[in-house]
Amino acid sequence: MLKDDVGEILITEEELQARIAELGRAISADYQGKDLLAVCVLRGAVIFLSDLIRRITIPHEMDFMAVSSYGGTRTKSTGVVRILMDLTTNIEGRNVLIVEDIVDSGLTLSYILSNLKTRRPASLRTCTLLDKQECREVDVPLDYVGFVIPDKFVIGYGLDYDEKYRNLPFIGVLKPELYIE
Ligand code: IMP
Repeated sequence: MLKDDVGEILITEEELQARIAELGRAISADYQGKDLLAVCVLRGAVIFLSDLIRRITIPHEMDFMAVSSYGGTRTKSTGVVRILMDLTTNIEGRNVLIVEDIVDSGLTLSYILSNLKTRRPASLRTCTLLDKQECREVDVPLDYVGFVIPDKFVIGYGLDYDEKYRNLPFIGVLKPELYIE
């Protein structure tokens, strides 16, 4: 069983859902009367996005982009980002909210922000489920944050280790003996 690989549960399913409901309420209030486009960064944020938008009570659209880092290890990105799949929507003049699973060094989100900025959206804000604040290497503006977490490699609720564990309904930490750097 996948669950047997988890050493510690950091955020339970109930805690996730309660916080996501709060984020949905805040986003609905802030974007009231505005044309909101939620941009999901694949693949990790897809579970978060799907729960979040069901807590957003105003009309909005969504789109997806996929990015990947070159090189690095299984648990650390290099910060050299490339777009694997771009948006299908023209975001010029739109109110764009980037939805991320986790911000670690900040390099990925920083790249996405500067890339999307050049497309002249009316506004560009960020929402991340998890924030590994103490690992930040570049400053990125975070407008909505689910949880600030310690410097631990986490899995579940969209987050993977070697493409596995995304389907766990909670955020957990793998048993240390299962990591290969
Ligand atoms: P950053 O560029 O260092 O901020 O890392 C961002 C990306 O690295 C995230 O979108 C994740 O795909 C991945 N990542 C960072 N930390 C973790 C983690 O603890 N678990 C799973 N993936 C992570």
